[in-house]
Amino acid sequence: MHGIHKKVGKVKRCAKGYMISPTQPVVVAENTALFTVLPGEQIGVAILNKSRALEVLAAIEASPTLDSLKAGAMELKEIISFKRPDTLNLLNINLNGDTVGFRKDVLLSEIDQVLESQSQERAIYYLRRLQKGINQVRTTKINDINLLRWKEYSDIITDSLWILGKRGTSGVHMAWYWGNFIPQIPRQLMLRYTKKGDWVLDPFAGSGTTLIECRRLQRNGLGVEINPEVASKAQELISLESNPWKVVSDLAVGDSTDFDFGQALHRHSVKQVQLVILHPPYHDIIKFSSDPRDLSNCRTVDEFLQRFGSVIENVTPVLEKKRYLSLVIGDKYSKGEWIPLGFYCMNEVLKRGYSLKAIIVKNFEDTRAKRNQKNCGG
Ligand SMILES: C[S@@+](CC[C@H](N)C(=O)[O-])C[C@H]1O[C@@H](n2cnc3c(N)ncnc32)[C@H](O)[C@@H]1O
Repeated sequence: MHGIHKKVGKVKRCAKGYMISPTQPVVVAENTALFTVLPGEQIGVAILNKSRALEVLAAIEASPTLDSLKAGAMELKEIISFKRPDTLNLLNINLNGDTVGFRKDVLLSEIDQVLESQSQERAIYYLRRLQKGINQVRTTKINDINLLRWKEYSDIITDSLWILGKRGTSGVHMAWYWGNFIPQIPRQLMLRYTKKGDWVLDPFAGSGTTLIECRRLQRNGLGVEINPEVASKAQELISLESNPWKVVSDLAVGDSTDFDFGQALHRHSVKQVQLVILHPPYHDIIKFSSDPRDLSNCRTVDEFLQRFGSVIENVTPVLEKKRYLSLVIGDKYSKGEWIPLGFYCMNEVLKRGYSLKAIIVKNFEDTRAKRNQKNCGG
């Protein structure tokens, strides 16, 4: 069996420490696609005149019987799917007032729920939910996901198994750096655990994947990388990425076990970050440099874990309370033995007062590691 071996453990800072929340089980899956995500271009968008949509929904809601209510909902559905002329002026975006965009398939399925309702009360419940989704935005402190429209976020994976497909190589993202992660990983983490304008810290910045994604998602990024040559090449690529929201992309050269993150943030008048993304070396699988402070040069797993623990201790004071730290790591196989680096590192994090929120398994389809794994008969 080709076991999936790249894990992303997410742990949340917890004031009392050692409190472990219920977790999802570790998933071991065979290397086959279990589900497919509908590609963005196949998802149509319905743009409605906002005030007309609200008026129409209110009128449908006021229908005297369930049958007449459903007739109104059917008319709405047919207009949205262009099966009848828009006599209600619903799609007239030139009419006075704002517009509201919906993922068409989601909107139609919401209307179907009205149509399938067994009671008027239930149908009204679905209609009001639709009205709320048009009228209001409800987000949490952690991200910008509108909870009233959560069904429309097909780009955010909430499963504990991530099947990411091909490496994203758009723009300045390149696979030049042996040992980088695919951009979809920091992207998913940021969409889920940060808001626009938040700060993300990557203490093992490598080729700058996180900082490039930060620019695309309107997040500020601080990265630290021990290898000056790698940092300089990463810096070059990051600056080639457009920066439409003028976010900060700060990449420093340093050793994250003792780097002064507080001072680096202070330069930007910031005290703390809202997300830490850790993608350390998988011990000595890839030697990143000859620098003895480089975690990939630790002589033993114990030494590696001890230095990794120092990084956690060093980043913790600059991570805002109740925000997230994510660890992206693969295990290693050495001298006939599987070394669960992921679990060991996760434990180092938990020992330092974090609570576990999720363990995610990522499919390694299309990565170089997989090719090696296959060659090794893994
Ligand atoms: C797995 S790679 C990270 C790759 C990165 N996520 C990317 O997409 O390019 C780990 C990186 O950590 C760096 N590193 C190792 N020890 C370090 C330390 N003590 N402080 C800072 N960086 C370190 C290595 O040079 C390497 O670039």
